[in-house]
This record gives sequence, C-alpha cells and structure tokens, in this order.
Amino acid sequence: MNSYDTILMRVNSDFSGINHDYNEYWRHMANYAENDKRITLVWSGASGASYGIRVLECLLSSDYVVYLLISSAARVVLAIEHCLKLPASPEAAKVILSQYLGLKTVPTDKLIVCGKEDWFSPVASGSSAPRKMVVCPCSMGFLAAIAHGMSDNLSERAADVVLKERGQLLLVVRETPFSTLHLINMLKLSKMGVTIMPAAPGFYHQPQSIEDLVDFMVARILDHLGVEQGLVSCWGYDSRV
Ligand SMILES: Cc1cc2nc3c(=O)[nH]c(=O)nc-3n(C[C@H](O)[C@H](O)[C@H](O)COP(=O)(O)O)c2cc1C
Repeated sequence: MNSYDTILMRVNSDFSGINHDYNEYWRHMANYAENDKRITLVWSGASGASYGIRVLECLLSSDYVVYLLISSAARVVLAIEHCLKLPASPEAAKVILSQYLGLKTVPTDKLIVCGKEDWFSPVASGSSAPRKMVVCPCSMGFLAAIAHGMSDNLSERAADVVLKERGQLLLVVRETPFSTLHLINMLKLSKMGVTIMPAAPGFYHQPQSIEDLVDFMVARILDHLGVEQGLVSCWGYDSRV
C-alpha cells in the first residue's frame, strides 16, 4: 500500500458519504508529493561546508530543483573552509556559486537561492513548500531555533513548515562534544520524526581522501532522501543495481 492509498483510506473513513470531492483533492496532493522533485537545502554555520556543497552537486545532477538557503554564518564558514566568498545577495551568490560548481550555465530553473527574508518564496508556505528538507551542515544554533519553532528567518520558517506539514526533515548536525541542551533539542526533534544525522563518516569503505569521507556522509544523506546515488555501495553489495 503506497502513501496515496493510506491517505485515501483515511480520508474515506473520515469523510465517507459527506463530501467525495476530498478524494480528488487528496489524489492531487498525494501525487504532487510523490512526484515532487524539489528539495529545500539549508547551509547553516556549522563546520563541514564540503558536505553541503556535495549534496547540492548531487541533487542538481539528479535533476532536482533545489531551494538553497545560506545563513550569514554559513557564508563565513564557506570563506574559511573553501575560500568561497558568497555575497549576501541571492542573485549574486547564485552566479558565483554556479561558477564555483563549474556549471556551464546558471540553472535558473533548478537552483533557486533564497534570501533570508524572502517571505514570498514557496518554502515559506505549507501550500507550496517541498516536502523534503535537509540542513547540511546544521549548527546547534539552528537546531535550537527549529526545536523552539522560532521561524525568525526564511530557513527557520522553512523547517517549521516541513514540520507542520509532516514532511521529511533531515539535520546533518556537527558539533563535539554535545551539551545536554544539544541532546535535549535533538531528542525533542527526533520524537517529532526529524532525522538527526551527525556528520560522522565511517571508515569501513577504506577512504583514501577527504572527498571519500565526504561522499560517505553524502551517500547516506541521499539514501535517506530517496535520491539515487552511486557514490558508495550499500553494505553487503559489491555494486549498486
Ligand atoms: C568557522 C566556524 C565554524 C563553526 N563550526 C560550528 C560547528 O561545527 N557547529 C556549530 O554548532 N556551530 C559552529 N559555529 C558557530 C555557528 O556558526 C554560530 O553558532 C552561528 O550563530 C550559527 O548560525 P546559523 O545557524 O544561523 O548558521 C562555527 C562558526 C564558525 C565561524
């Protein structure tokens, strides 16, 4: 039974004999969610910009539409870790980022860089936001803001929307050690269905480079998002089928 069937069953039992138009509405919504090749990606100010950049590359090459939100602290981290200086203006950031990624043309329809107060962005509303969102890397500050429903900027609002719409939210946190407060916030979000995925790559694939370690993490992230990836084989398989 797929998610459409589950939704339809619930709707039928809730509304049987009252209003069959709901069937059409939910059929539309379920198909929309299942075929939706859009993802919200937030780069927040934790160390590990390489993970976020690689996730973006993989999503774009898998033909996803990516709504990219970059915090001010993330821009500091990108400058330090990648010598990548992104301006605050989303349009200018997109041009520089596209050049950095080696994209021949700026994919206007695939990469949508949003400003921190772009309240008219689709990610700001449950009626239009992608149902999948990944924060990579995720700072403890951003985690706390989500755990408390702050919605004080577009990234926080986008996470709040995904939570209220019961979508998929994946937080690739990076900090060490964790304080009790970090752990409480993570537990709170985990109990709400959020996937807490620490940036903690394994070593059993015998990495030869930093890129191999990054790809290990990114492969796990893409697996969780349901995005096909050929970076790292599943455990127990020599190669992906
Ligand atoms: C170079 C650098 C590395 C940082 N690394 C981390 C980190 O690994 N984890 C973390 O939670 N915060 C880290 N911080 C602190 C966050 O950037 C800071 O708490 C910031 O307010 C987070 O804001 P944001 O969540 O809006 O991006 C780092 C800051 C800098 C400048």
